[in-house]
Amino acid sequence: MQPCVVELEDVWKVFDNGLVAVRGCSLQIRKGEFLALLGPSGCGKTTTLRMIAGFEFPSRGRIRIDGRDVTFERPQHRNAAMVFQNYALFPHMTVAENVAFGLRMRQVPPSVIAEKVKTYLSLVRLDGYQDRSPKKLSGGEQQRVALARALITEPAVLLLDEPLGALDRKLREEMQLELKQLLNRLEITVLFVTHDQDEALVMSHRVAVMANGQIQQVGTPDEVYEHPRTPFVAGFVGVSNFFQGRVIGSDPEYTVLETTGGIRLAVSGTAPVGEQIIVSCRPEKVCLAVSPDSSFFNSFPGRVTAIKYYGASSQYFVQLDCGLSLISMLPTLEVGEHRFQIGDRVYAEIHPRALHILREPGA
Ligand SMILES: Nc1ncnc2c1ncn2[C@@H]1O[C@H](COP(=O)(O)OP(=O)(O)OP(=O)(O)O)[C@@H](O)[C@H]1O
Ligand SMILES: [Mg+2]
Repeated sequence: MQPCVVELEDVWKVFDNGLVAVRGCSLQIRKGEFLALLGPSGCGKTTTLRMIAGFEFPSRGRIRIDGRDVTFERPQHRNAAMVFQNYALFPHMTVAENVAFGLRMRQVPPSVIAEKVKTYLSLVRLDGYQDRSPKKLSGGEQQRVALARALITEPAVLLLDEPLGALDRKLREEMQLELKQLLNRLEITVLFVTHDQDEALVMSHRVAVMANGQIQQVGTPDEVYEHPRTPFVAGFVGVSNFFQGRVIGSDPEYTVLETTGGIRLAVSGTAPVGEQIIVSCRPEKVCLAVSPDSSFFNSFPGRVTAIKYYGASSQYFVQLDCGLSLISMLPTLEVGEHRFQIGDRVYAEIHPRALHILREPGA
């Protein structure tokens, strides 16, 4: 296993006004890993990054980079480089001066700097941009200058704060691929902040999902999507159906849940009898059948109430007879042809393994 480059150990940040922005975050990022920190606006992503970069000190906990405790070190004394949410290029400097900045601060000889600036501008496909003013660059170009400025110091970890947030959708998708390929090629360790779940899943080796200052789950994109651990993760990463209820039976493999709507659900996994639990299920795991299947434990009658067409697939909103609502996502059959119509009678079928028992963080 690769060595740990960044380690957060029970890190807290309480601002002077009493606001708790980060509460007890622990996280390890390994060498060469691309880890996305994903969460909604205001959950503490930038604050976490600023503490790793040294622009903010934790109220409690330790931060280590390459095994060295840097918790209270100044930014220039730790081997991390940050690209800010708005790029923060120096407007009065040329592109080359912006990129050279980190090396000038370290008193690297000018001839070495000039050579490196050329190399890194070429790496981000900005050959010939040396003398341009950052004010006259497009969003995508500014983003690449900011990236070159961070990469040139050859940091142990690159901290990217929503680096693609200011770009339009098409450019953003192009840059996602380009950035991923470039950073993989450089084998650099990256902590990448985003509030866009698709971006996190597409870009990273692992995703850390954050809410209210807490990291609720860390895992590979498919682990986080297929096996969400908390109600927040299930709802924030992709779309989920939720069921709430009381455990009425349990064996080593399955749990039977009586939901608030009065249906009985078999769920894989165990929970103590009598406990109130929440389970989730992805819409693409809810099948719709025209007739009941007695061999299927979780088969519930209902009616289609709405259909959302997405091109390759459609979402069917189903009101079950028990009163609960479900979303089913099914691939489209033919152009414009729906499998079901609004008002159709259907049976929603869910395999027990498609249902996940969720727990509140810390539980
Ligand atoms: N210097 C500060 N003093 C007081 N509160 C702050 C300070 N900086 C940030 N906060 C608060 O801390 C919380 C977390 O902020 P942070 O900038 O880390 O969120 P974020 O996850 O990066 O959000 P966004 O996606 O909008 O960038 C917010 O409620 C914010 O208002
Ligand atoms: Mg932020």
